[in-house]
Amino acid sequence: LLNQGLADLKKINDQAALNDLRVSLLGKKGPITKVLRGMGALSAEERPVVGSFANEVRDQLQAAIDDRKKALDAAKLARQLEEEKIDVTLPGKPTTRGNAHVIQQIIDQLEDLFLGMGYQVLTGPEVEEDRYNFEMMNLPKDHPARDMQDTFYITNEILMRTQTSPMQARAMEKHDFSQGPLKMISPGVVYRRDTDDPTHSHQFHQVEGLVIDKHITMADLKGTLELVAHELFGDRFNVRLRPSYFPFTEPSVEADITCFNCDGKGCSVCKCTGWIEVLGAGMVHPNVLKMAGVDPDVYGGFAFGMGPDRFAMLKYGVDDIRNFYLDDVRFLNQFSMKG
Ligand code: PHE
Repeated sequence: LLNQGLADLKKINDQAALNDLRVSLLGKKGPITKVLRGMGALSAEERPVVGSFANEVRDQLQAAIDDRKKALDAAKLARQLEEEKIDVTLPGKPTTRGNAHVIQQIIDQLEDLFLGMGYQVLTGPEVEEDRYNFEMMNLPKDHPARDMQDTFYITNEILMRTQTSPMQARAMEKHDFSQGPLKMISPGVVYRRDTDDPTHSHQFHQVEGLVIDKHITMADLKGTLELVAHELFGDRFNVRLRPSYFPFTEPSVEADITCFNCDGKGCSVCKCTGWIEVLGAGMVHPNVLKMAGVDPDVYGGFAFGMGPDRFAMLKYGVDDIRNFYLDDVRFLNQFSMKG
């Protein structure tokens, strides 16, 4: 049995067959177990002789099986190492690295600028209540200026926000003025029921800004907007304010920045005015303060709403806003920050 077993073992080349052989030799139904079980029928003199002989055979077979198993394991490992070997000297495959969207880059730049001046960055819901989007912005239900912003309604009272201005009301409601002034910007996506074309998108970005304190003036607003222009476009850009109308600011302005593209012969960017309109702003209307629980006799401030899409178009000479929303990497890679 021992010799036959050892001979069989030599022919075995895989783990499964080795296991089968082990079971047939040493298992519960194997010959050695049978001998050991049958010991009861033997005489007292025979028992220790047969017993120790059977044990001896079993131990030798077990040791041989263990050796064979080790050899098979080692061979398997060697084979694996050989097959899965990596040639580190081969040239690698280039991986493509992601990159912040060009609009997000503008927003990041604005956030850095304003965080540096002690502003908070707040975000709020894109699915907004009529109350915040319009009513608390001094646009009651029947106000004609609602027509300035075509709106996607979800229900009569719920809509896709048409502007980030509702964040003014949300921020004022939350702010504890005993802790100091409120200074915040709020970047985000807004929606309008517009037909998409080179200068309109039904979804675009805004960055709202709001400062509420005692003794805030329009000069503070202009200085802040100049900082934005210098940061995004460069120091040689100037800011001009023109009277305008928004229901939530009084007085209201539109801000322009210098146009350097103008050649005086029919400039396509500024129509030869020398100025490009970039944002709406103004001094927060007393009604807006009141509705958000702020006393207009004590506090006041300025607000602005900027369009990062428009900034990106001007900064990089992009002539179609829809490019920002098509997710064509050939377009987006031009604004990669890798270089
Ligand atoms: N919410 C205005 C718009 O979307 C912009 C604005 C913001 C104007 C804050 C004044 C003050 O057109």
